[in-house]
Amino acid sequence: MEANDLKQRFHAALDEGLARIAQATDMASLEEAKIRVTGRKAPLSLARGELRSVDDAARKELGQLANDVQSQIDAAIAAKRDQFLERERKRRWERERIDVTLPGSLPPMGAIHLLTQTLWEIVDIFVGLGYRVAEGPDVEYSRYNFDALNTPADHPSRSPVDTFYIAGKGEDVCLRTQTSPMQIRTMEEHEPPVFVVVPGRVYRRDTLDATHLMQFFQLEGLAVAEGITMSDLKGTLETFAHELFGDSLKIQLRPHFFPFTEPSAEMDVECFLCRGSDPRCRVCKGEGWVEILGCGMVDPNVLEGVGYDTERYTGFAFGMGIERIAALAHGINDIRMLYENDLRFNLQFGGLA
Ligand code: DAH
Repeated sequence: MEANDLKQRFHAALDEGLARIAQATDMASLEEAKIRVTGRKAPLSLARGELRSVDDAARKELGQLANDVQSQIDAAIAAKRDQFLERERKRRWERERIDVTLPGSLPPMGAIHLLTQTLWEIVDIFVGLGYRVAEGPDVEYSRYNFDALNTPADHPSRSPVDTFYIAGKGEDVCLRTQTSPMQIRTMEEHEPPVFVVVPGRVYRRDTLDATHLMQFFQLEGLAVAEGITMSDLKGTLETFAHELFGDSLKIQLRPHFFPFTEPSAEMDVECFLCRGSDPRCRVCKGEGWVEILGCGMVDPNVLEGVGYDTERYTGFAFGMGIERIAALAHGINDIRMLYENDLRFNLQFGGLA
């Protein structure tokens, strides 16, 4: 073959190849064009096949040309591919674009249960007054739950009708009916001064109704030091009531009886809803006062039992039911609602649905 003709064919292969590549509109058609332009039967390959038929000098020059054409075509294909990749990337960005300034959709938010909120709030008040927090066992020796608390052997609260006893232990081990046994455990472990509050679960064989549960929470308090008097008890509990229910409410102590305190009292807070003005008030039932805790001066028998010097130390104690206080503070007329976990109820005290 004439060297000149072959040269023309290489130029033609280049022009045609570049044109085909330029016509490709996407990756698939580019792939197709590549086969046609660089495949075995492409004009460039066929022309290369003819290199054998020209003389040595022309072959050297045309070989060079063939390589040149090949690299121009390869470059054109690569450029086109880059262009398509870039176009695809832009399209994807467009498709997947998100506006980070749009308001998000919030997942449902949890919240602290009202009962826990109330407990924490009460504990916080006493921590603020310098009390330490302790916790004790739910399964308790009757010795701690009753005897050490000066409770006589025939006291009705010891009856298996009222108290859960642990099977196989006779009446020696029970589910604590009050947090008061922690008074004993605390004093056994620590010398005075003792200022401690004890939140915890307690258990009683009551029949469930709007004001009774078989398991509920109490908070116990104990203060023993030199020179503690009934006025310290009153001042402390008044401060507590004011922080919890509001500054302007009066409190009153009514004589009562507990085996482990002498004298003993129940503390009432002035009704925070009607302050005694509504005979049909749903909080105080027209009484003007609501009872919120039991308290008293620790009986010297109890102090002696743990080896404290009763000539030197005196103390006061108090105990309150958390469900009752939460219910009073929020106008809840059935404390079972605190345990039903009905979201329509729970969400009224925090959280988002
Ligand atoms: N433990 C008593 C109860 O469950 C409450 C109580 C009353 C606790 C007087 C005390 C107290 O510490 O001094 O009914």
